[in-house]
Amino acid sequence: MRFDAFAKKEFSALDAESEAGHIGLKRALRAPDLLALGVGAIIGAGIFVLTGSAAAKYAGPAITISFVIAAVACAFAGLCYAEFASLIPIAGSAYTYSYASLGELIAWIIGWDLILEYGFGAAAVAVGWSGYVNSFLQDHGVTIPPHLTAAPGTVLVLYDGRWQRLSSIEETLESAHVALGSIPHVTAAFDLVAFLTVLLVTAILVRGIRESATVNTLIVIVKVSIVLVFVGLALVALTRAGWAPASKNWSPYIPPNAGEFGKYGWSGILRGAAVIFFAYIGFDAVSTAAQEAKNPKRDMPIGILGSLVICTILYILVSGLLTALVPYTALDVPDPVAVGIDATGVGWGRFLVKVGAIFGLASVMLVMLLAQSRVLFTMSNDGLLWPAAAKIHPRFQTPYVSSIVVGAFVAVFAGLVPIGILGELVSIGTLLAFVIVCASVWMLRRRHPEIPRPFKTPWVPFVPFMGMAVALAMMLALPWETWLRLGVWLAIGMAIYFGYGRKHSRVQKALLERPPA
Ligand code: ALA
Repeated sequence: MRFDAFAKKEFSALDAESEAGHIGLKRALRAPDLLALGVGAIIGAGIFVLTGSAAAKYAGPAITISFVIAAVACAFAGLCYAEFASLIPIAGSAYTYSYASLGELIAWIIGWDLILEYGFGAAAVAVGWSGYVNSFLQDHGVTIPPHLTAAPGTVLVLYDGRWQRLSSIEETLESAHVALGSIPHVTAAFDLVAFLTVLLVTAILVRGIRESATVNTLIVIVKVSIVLVFVGLALVALTRAGWAPASKNWSPYIPPNAGEFGKYGWSGILRGAAVIFFAYIGFDAVSTAAQEAKNPKRDMPIGILGSLVICTILYILVSGLLTALVPYTALDVPDPVAVGIDATGVGWGRFLVKVGAIFGLASVMLVMLLAQSRVLFTMSNDGLLWPAAAKIHPRFQTPYVSSIVVGAFVAVFAGLVPIGILGELVSIGTLLAFVIVCASVWMLRRRHPEIPRPFKTPWVPFVPFMGMAVALAMMLALPWETWLRLGVWLAIGMAIYFGYGRKHSRVQKALLERPPA
């Protein structure tokens, strides 16, 4: 038998592989850990940073509707992920699902593509984290040398006693008639804070899955509590004021379109949904911990869908209250939730929100890096990547080589690439993964209808088709440069697959060894 790019992994082989014993990962996670893993990956830069600018620039108070639309889009994909994660509880997630349903080449493409979601996702969040940490340190009189606080080329200015990104205060400078040349400014060379934090998180991951899950659960408790404190304080402040600020700030709830697509009105709500889609990314990362779950068949759907539901409720509450407290036009700032809590008149609120964001983003990085190393680990186990990536640490029982390699790459990218480019790459990579997972659910239902599925995606093929359609539509809304970068990334991946992967693939080897029929 010759090389077959569409060779599929047999379901029976996957079932055997999902027994963790022979590969050495530890089954230590229960349903609450998996829920926490999902919430840990989801609540981050999206709600703490992006909500404000999306409301200010695109949707106005109707940003809550954008959150509902993005949640529905994610729910289609989430239902498909849940079927697979309980059916094929293997660390490779979307990569493994497509190996079983669409064949090796597509599986390789998706595995390579997931690096965009998880690896670059961790880098993007590290950059957001660095922004919050710098701001928090400056609040307390500590200044890191500014040229080490942002990606190369970013211009930082000393204004109002603090170093800030020129891009975020350009309008303020203009309206105050301050020329750039008249105030101290530097061009950044490297984001050292983002770089170091990725290395620190990597060290925790190498140490162990149980330790990582415990750290994650603690962080999740802190960040969810802080989000709830915000909700509570906002409700108290608004009730005391007889909801007068809300009726003022919420009217009109859907600001009329300003004459161009995406600027308020319904098109603005849609663009807002595409932007804050980033806030939901991460629920699928739960599926990469399937091999470390005690009872994946039952707990995987709980982890994936439960975390999505919890975060949707929190997001709608936070965005609704934020636009009730503060006019949406004043929310285009790096720390909108802190601005919102200031409006409640609670002095210590700002401190609390920043601490919440700093912890919150740390756990997003933790789960993203965990997911990334697990995907590479699985690809290496299949022979598509070098065997070193599947090495398990004898004492910590973690795939330490893939964790360290991933950590090193992500740290360098976090230090060098601006958050805008990283964010768009993450979106396109994630949406492509959604498309392929939805397609895979449908294909596997047709190829193997007989397999007992512990969790069944409802209304197949409607749900997978809707998942694909919505994800494709959002991909089309992204700039062409992002498509170009995706193309270059996939071309590099193809070179590695045809240069190495296909020659060492276990599935291909098994085909060669199979006696002719
Ligand atoms: N959902 C994650 C965040 O908002 C990626 O940071």
